[in-house]
Amino acid sequence: MSKQFLNIKKELPVLGIGLGLRRDLSDDTFNHSDRIDFVEIAPENYMGIGGRARDLLDQACERFPLISHGLNLSIGSTDDLNLDYLKELKALLDAANAPWWSDHLCFSSAGGVYMHDLLPMPFSKEAVSHVAERIKRVQDYVARPFLLENISFYMHAPGCELSEAQFLSEVAEAADCGFLLDVNNVYVNAINHKYDPYKFIDEIPLDRTVQIHVAGHKQIREFIIDTHGAPVIEPVFELLAYVLERTEVKGVMLERDQNFPEFDELLLELEQLRTIAGRTQPALTKGKLGGEAAYARSLSA
Ligand SMILES: [Fe+2]
Repeated sequence: MSKQFLNIKKELPVLGIGLGLRRDLSDDTFNHSDRIDFVEIAPENYMGIGGRARDLLDQACERFPLISHGLNLSIGSTDDLNLDYLKELKALLDAANAPWWSDHLCFSSAGGVYMHDLLPMPFSKEAVSHVAERIKRVQDYVARPFLLENISFYMHAPGCELSEAQFLSEVAEAADCGFLLDVNNVYVNAINHKYDPYKFIDEIPLDRTVQIHVAGHKQIREFIIDTHGAPVIEPVFELLAYVLERTEVKGVMLERDQNFPEFDELLLELEQLRTIAGRTQPALTKGKLGGEAAYARSLSA
């Protein structure tokens, strides 16, 4: 990509307030498409798969703008980039005309073995160069804007010489990519690793944020496990508001992956996100029509 990311961000559509598409929630999600502006999928659940998965994807594309949030890019790994994975991912993104795509700043494979876990990289200068170079390569190959998500993690890898905020910042600047800022992950890490979440947000190049994730977690004594299986708590909503006061974003999304409540509860959480977003960024609250119109304008510009 020859254009600088911050210029690319300006042209991205405002998608609004979205929900992660989960199989158990799909009927309710489709039945309430008037209250959900976009959906995010895990591409690994659909790549090269037909049958029910394909049908679900087609239905989602008919109703919503769709973005992809991967688990298996393993961008921080020392394994070679998985070209088969990237090829299938690109085909999926092209078919869905996804305005951007994202994955995590982590590694999830080593020696060709996928661990189905998002593992933290050493926060080192060497790792910054390594992962930034790989991000540039995948951005060039996929040819759609790439967002990097800050993960929740429970122990530091050996060899750290930077803080998490410094590492995230240096990678994004060196790779010239965007952020998918997960404010629940910021909160979880801040509690578990004992730092100030607001200071973390102040330390990163926040204007690279295109999308925000909001989720719930489970507190066990003084530690927090990032479960995506509970309601969002007030301090996480407050972090969302803090970010939205400081930078314009294109989408805010609720992640709920387990322990599903009545769908009405999720709709209420989405409305809460819409209310918070409306205080500082009314464009986010205009719903699908606003988002799609903006996207159509950006494509024709
Ligand atoms: Fe997330």
